[in-house]
Amino acid sequence: MCGIVGYIGPRDATPIILNGLKRLEYRGYDSAGLAVLENGHIAVRRDAGKLARLSALVEESPVHGHVGIGHTRWATHGEPSARNAHPHLGMTGDVVVVHNGIVENFLELREELSAEGVVFNSDTDTEVIVHLIERCLSRETGLAEAARCALSRLRGAHGVVTFSSKEPDKIVAARIGNAGGVVVGLGDGEMFLASDMPAILEHTRSVVFLESRQMAVVTREGVEIKTLEGDAVAYQVQSVAWDPIAAEKGEYRHFMQKEIHEQVRSLTDTIGGRVDFEDGRIHLPELNLTPEKARRTRKLFIIACGTAAHAGMVGKVLIEHIARVPVEVDIASEFRYRDPIIDEDSVVLAISQSGETADTLAAMEEARSKGATVWSIVNVIGSQAMRIANGYISMQTGPEIGVASTKAYTAPLVDLYMLAVLLADLRGGIDERTRRRLVNDLRLVPDLAGRCLDREADVEKVARFLLNVSHCLYLGRGINMPSAYEGALKLKEISYIHAEGYPAGEMKHGPIALIDRDMPVIVIAPRDPWYEKMLSQIEQAKARGGIVIALATDGDELIPGIADHVIWLPETPWMLSPVTAVIPLQMLAYHIAALRGLDVDQPRNLAKSVTVE
Ligand code: G6P
Repeated sequence: MCGIVGYIGPRDATPIILNGLKRLEYRGYDSAGLAVLENGHIAVRRDAGKLARLSALVEESPVHGHVGIGHTRWATHGEPSARNAHPHLGMTGDVVVVHNGIVENFLELREELSAEGVVFNSDTDTEVIVHLIERCLSRETGLAEAARCALSRLRGAHGVVTFSSKEPDKIVAARIGNAGGVVVGLGDGEMFLASDMPAILEHTRSVVFLESRQMAVVTREGVEIKTLEGDAVAYQVQSVAWDPIAAEKGEYRHFMQKEIHEQVRSLTDTIGGRVDFEDGRIHLPELNLTPEKARRTRKLFIIACGTAAHAGMVGKVLIEHIARVPVEVDIASEFRYRDPIIDEDSVVLAISQSGETADTLAAMEEARSKGATVWSIVNVIGSQAMRIANGYISMQTGPEIGVASTKAYTAPLVDLYMLAVLLADLRGGIDERTRRRLVNDLRLVPDLAGRCLDREADVEKVARFLLNVSHCLYLGRGINMPSAYEGALKLKEISYIHAEGYPAGEMKHGPIALIDRDMPVIVIAPRDPWYEKMLSQIEQAKARGGIVIALATDGDELIPGIADHVIWLPETPWMLSPVTAVIPLQMLAYHIAALRGLDVDQPRNLAKSVTVE
């Protein structure tokens, strides 16, 4: 959830840390801090609020050194304030810690340490870690051993980075479980540490990912990795290819707007290399899917959180319709605790932009322990969800910075469509004509997305109309029911307007009671197999005095006669219509929030990567 950066080398650590944190601010942004070893002492600067506050603080009161760590926080224990911001120093001032995760037994540890005379300076769970390290230091030899001893006391999942003024030649980092990814970036005579790759990509492409229960001792010259049990680990250096320029805002006001507009490119890349238009076939080599495996698959479970779960719901319709394999979609945090019935003939497919969402990773592990094949559709290259899967599809969207997910929603829609066709093909359950038609339709996707984007000005007009509403109801049906969920989620996430997504047929069983002139209804009614049913939903809403904003297909002559406003969609093959339906909904939410002057990219209380349960 939180972002972590570390540096050791000949350069000034402060700007490197601040820059790295800037790229991680999407992980948490209610407070930030850094600690740098300056003339033999650890100097800490930290404050509540966004990173800009920390930068201002560092400008007023500069700090320089060659070893340092930084942190951007998403509060779990203790309100966002300067005293709760990381890094946390121990009582001697010689050891400092940043942490991502939750110390589940922190109350017990805090009591134990307090009884020994430790004075706590914050309300965080993290602070126990630094005191535990200090306590172990008095008994053990050196920081690495002390960290190992302290970490053995923690319950929960963690990423921890620490250094000591008494051992200025090293930074120690560890990972336990899935809450805190730790990546070590290898430079020439300098080393970098981060919770996530964007923080260090401008410095190096050679990285080592820590696995759970591994600890790295990082010096200027190199890195040594051991398990927390003390066994040496022969690690692999990986080369990553992400372009840091892609993570800049460019001409756009917000990352979210940029990312909405990037969908033509990201969808082109999603299809590129995977589709053989000549043969009418799909290739997803990283999935490791054999014809035998495809035929043996009796059931698919899609697990995900948030926006990714909505993509999964579209996937269910696609896979059941095209490949005739039964699919269940589960919110990952539910799946892991409901003792699902899965076996070796089940496939569990996780969808995750970050590949680090704790609930999703835990659900993957649950599936694996029950013998299922585990796949993932994931954006962040090298992330845990990619690494622990038996096969994966990489989203090809490039870094997504805006907390509200956009391009990482439409890419998996297309991935799931391709997966459905591939499964059907390998199971021998699709005739050649249908397969070729479905594959051919993929050609249209980037252009259709572009045509949706061209209509941004029309969507903005509707945004002005909705600017001051307090509630909104989104209705969709069939393959576009998840579009209603996703449209509503986008609006509530960034504009703070209460919005509900509902299966349109359910409206009469409850939400209809809410409809009046103050509850606008956004109806997703493209020309898909549920179109006529949607027309009657519009009539029902109008009959109760509702204001209806309808998404309709170009050329529709009925909807303009009954809806108050129409947002036009280009004609799209129905199985791909969730791609074109959601783009105006993304733009609508974006413009409402931007017109309200809100912090679109970093909405309150949210974080992009949710690495706590
Ligand atoms: C957070 C983000 C959402 C995202 C969800 C799942 O809640 O704010 O935008 O959909 O996590 O994240 P993932 O990285 O697993 O797709």
